[in-house]
Amino acid sequence: MNTRDTEHMIAELSSKDNYELSDDAKTADLIMINTCSVREKPVNKLFSEIGVFNKIKKEGAKIGICGCTASHLGDEIFKRAPSVSFVLGARNVSKVSQAVKTEKFIDVDIGYDESTYAFGEFRGSRYKAYVNISIGCDKKCTYCIVPHTRGDEISIPSELIVQEAREAAKNGAKEIFLLGQNVNNYGRRFSLKRDEKIDFSDLLNLISEIEEVERIRFTSPHPLHMDDKFLETFASNPKVCKSMHMPLQSGSTHILEEMKRGYTKEWFLNRALKLRELVPDVSISTDIIVAFPGESDEDFDESMDVLEKVKFEQIFAFKYSARPLTKAAEFTNQVDPDIASKRLKKLQDRQNEILDEISDLKKDKVYNVYFEELRNNGLIAGRSDNNALVQVEGSEELLGKTLKVKITNPRRLALYGEVVK
Ligand code: 5AD
Ligand code: SF4
Repeated sequence: MNTRDTEHMIAELSSKDNYELSDDAKTADLIMINTCSVREKPVNKLFSEIGVFNKIKKEGAKIGICGCTASHLGDEIFKRAPSVSFVLGARNVSKVSQAVKTEKFIDVDIGYDESTYAFGEFRGSRYKAYVNISIGCDKKCTYCIVPHTRGDEISIPSELIVQEAREAAKNGAKEIFLLGQNVNNYGRRFSLKRDEKIDFSDLLNLISEIEEVERIRFTSPHPLHMDDKFLETFASNPKVCKSMHMPLQSGSTHILEEMKRGYTKEWFLNRALKLRELVPDVSISTDIIVAFPGESDEDFDESMDVLEKVKFEQIFAFKYSARPLTKAAEFTNQVDPDIASKRLKKLQDRQNEILDEISDLKKDKVYNVYFEELRNNGLIAGRSDNNALVQVEGSEELLGKTLKVKITNPRRLALYGEVVK
């Protein structure tokens, strides 16, 4: 979502204020840092990063801080870093043009509704288009700062989404990547006076009707809203790529309750196994937090157990990080950091073994790969329909094409292969 917000800001600044992208911070007139605040580490990094830019930037160059950390730290950023010219929250992206023109501009209003704002056109990739389908998040997971930085959830009207997808696909982006904090909750609430009866499955079908669109991806769905209709649409619509992110967070039903995730371990396993049944070649990725307050050894073992049962193709695992404004930060049963580190290592080690087992099975398989990137190593990279990173020898002319590739050398992080004639 930050990537798309950045594209939106670039579009605004280039169309309204004649800015051009620069890859040299020393000569730039404007340096913007788009921030995340989901865990503590990136927030700390922000201030050291500002220090680096202070040293190298040219006289009079402005520094702007945007995104979630801007939203939750607000004018504290000016106090800690007086060289900063403006602070623009994650839900105020459309005001960037005003921000660069106003001394000490600050807007971190999380009630602001940008859901119908028509941003200019800028995309980092010619082959894939990110399209927002909602802003904010209505869930109140007790560890998560996002609802406090991105505000309540508002769906973007489907006609705007379809129009944007159609335009992008016409310009060559055959892959549409739908973005929202909670995509399969789409359609619950729209802007005032713009009500519409539609859910995420309907939206997927609607976008798949655009002829030029070949592939549809999305992130993130919530396990709680993975009803049968959604899983069946995912399985049966041929344009929907067969990779699903299912953020588990914890395998312990007790911890899930403490996190206010709204589902149990059994529900999660039921949905993941149903998905594997409906789409045998599906790839499932997940997010797992270890050492959430009160997590016992037995609770942690439940997360390990889900790893064994689902055999995720990819996991993003994090140590719990206490965040300001969240309920869990006030819980008194925080877990010892050494135990947290040990659990994270145990989880990641086991996952690496699982990945080795899974990737061995991919040798000689044939995948449809959409090529989108020329790599520094001279290889051309693309994604299979089920989201595996595939690399082959080949030239630029493969870019933007979907071709069959036979895997000759499957590795943990990428599959190497040959285009099948
Ligand atoms: N501590 C650790 N991980 C977190 N995430 C969100 N909040 C926290 C936190 N306080 C993780 C979740 C989420 C991912 C984007 O970041 O796993 O799915
Ligand atoms: Fe955060 Fe939960 Fe919303 Fe995801 S669903 S953004 S974890 S509050």
